[in-house]
Amino acid sequence: MNDFEPAIVAFFCNWCTYTAADLAGTSRLAYPPNVKIIRVMCSGMVDPKYVIKAFLGGADGVLVSGCNPGDCHYINGNYKARRRIKLLKEILPQFGFEPRRLRLTWIAASDGVLLAETVQELVVQLKELGPSEAKLKMVI
Ligand code: FES
Repeated sequence: MNDFEPAIVAFFCNWCTYTAADLAGTSRLAYPPNVKIIRVMCSGMVDPKYVIKAFLGGADGVLVSGCNPGDCHYINGNYKARRRIKLLKEILPQFGFEPRRLRLTWIAASDGVLLAETVQELVVQLKELGPSEAKLKMVI
């Protein structure tokens, strides 16, 4: 399926990754437009329900990204996010989703290049995986 363009829902921490996305834009770093960014104050506030809802709503991939370990503005939010994503990856198959569709990264505010590379890599990986299982089963 060569013309498949994955839809990605991205939850970006306001203080780090969202700023990196902003920097990528102002630095004119190109990255695929497949990503729909949702700004959250901390990766630790990304409730697992948000991720499941994104998948059930037709997302082909979900990216959660926050501050590097030790840099969370709310002390330990990113550690909470890491635990939640680990558990979500374990239960996603029970919803019929390939766990590789969910990715957690840490991207600092100054790292627009890493942001662009991360989105590009995820798009390539999702193209290999193909459309979301929800779309294929017409759950949505
Ligand atoms: S404030 Fe960025 S991950 Fe918590």
